[in-house]
Amino acid sequence: MKTPVLNHRFERYWGKTCLFGEVTDCEDMNAQLFFSARIYAQETRKYYLSFDRKLWDWNDEATEKLHYLFQEAFLSIARLYKPDVIASDLNYEDTSYVLVPPPGRGPLYPHIHLGVNFTLVYYINTSPNQGLLRLWNPKLVRRENIEIQPYQGLLVILPGEFPHDVKAFHATEDRLCVVSNCKIQGIKVARNAKLAFYWPSEKT
Ligand SMILES: [Fe+2]
Repeated sequence: MKTPVLNHRFERYWGKTCLFGEVTDCEDMNAQLFFSARIYAQETRKYYLSFDRKLWDWNDEATEKLHYLFQEAFLSIARLYKPDVIASDLNYEDTSYVLVPPPGRGPLYPHIHLGVNFTLVYYINTSPNQGLLRLWNPKLVRRENIEIQPYQGLLVILPGEFPHDVKAFHATEDRLCVVSNCKIQGIKVARNAKLAFYWPSEKT
């Protein structure tokens, strides 16, 4: 299996830094992860797969490579806050999970990930007409956003307190992404009551 390579850049929106990564040489890894996730879905008859911390217990080559990739990505953004951060400072909090919504599923309402420094999404398989990832201005939620078109190999890291959602979609194929949340030793987690859950008052 090839070793995937991550190229990344940082972009700032409304005073917050996000990481946008492009993973290349990831086809073998993605194919294996997709295969495993589908078997799991068939066994459990679930579409939304919440593995919690178990994703890293899969213990296969693909998951190992994915874990390394995530580690590299989290360290890159964490260095902006703590230049001497090391891998053992990373704590994967509560969730590293795979989402396989059934075709047509959506939207996912605006929310934040409380209590973690960063949240990561990596797109393993995408579908035509799938939902756009939207980032919202924390001060003007549901009024000002940017839209990101997911594609296979795209990896995005947001600060945990950054409001985001997935626009309504009608995907025609399985759409698979992995989400991971990370708390980093030595970096303060933002706590702001105003950033509790944002639920929509109107349809997207
Ligand atoms: Fe999220």
